[in-house]
Amino acid sequence: MKFFIDTADTAAIAEIKSLGMCDGVTTNPSLLAQAGRRDTDALLREICDLVEGPVSGEVVATDAAGMIREGERLAGLSEYMVVKIPTTYDGLKAIAALSGQGIPVNATLVFSPSQALLVAKAGAAYCSPFVGRLDDVSHNGMDLIEQVVTIYTNYDLETEVLVASVRHPNHVVEAALMGADIATIPPKVIKQLVQHPLTEKGLAAFLADWDRLQGK
Ligand code: E4P
Repeated sequence: MKFFIDTADTAAIAEIKSLGMCDGVTTNPSLLAQAGRRDTDALLREICDLVEGPVSGEVVATDAAGMIREGERLAGLSEYMVVKIPTTYDGLKAIAALSGQGIPVNATLVFSPSQALLVAKAGAAYCSPFVGRLDDVSHNGMDLIEQVVTIYTNYDLETEVLVASVRHPNHVVEAALMGADIATIPPKVIKQLVQHPLTEKGLAAFLADWDRLQGK
């Protein structure tokens, strides 16, 4: 399973990359706003140079022609850029056009299996179902992942399932059990994934015994 990092914070990306846990990065307008830099093209280029793997940058146009223009510009920033397109009717037109030009597209804001089926047929390289936001409205986000993995497997669709809106370690574990290709994970959740109270407790006991052996 590939781990993408869900942030535009270059320091956090560099740290997680040094752990060997960064196969790519996803950003969106909110994450770019959090990074607090107006030179978003320069920031996306920096992230691409750092990651040397797929980096998603999102269009803000909402009409197909605007999305295609913006997507072509974003794709020109780096060989690693992936263009994020919202899953609307106009978005489908942009996904088909950009994918047809060989530009990798990440279909974002996917909340239903029908949307996932359509973006795959339109040629998206990645499909991003948002699990946390579904949980927030009393749906089970992971049910959607199971459905999308089943549909893509049934028809050998090449679009990769990119689990997005990850909020806690169980989202990642369940995604792995379901065979999702990728999870995009906030830096905080990467840290949570390695924590276990019994590891902390066991380590403290080992160190206390070691100190006793040394006569401390
Ligand atoms: C990534 O591609 C998504 O934009 C991101 O995971 C959304 O996460 P959120 O629902 O926590 O904002």
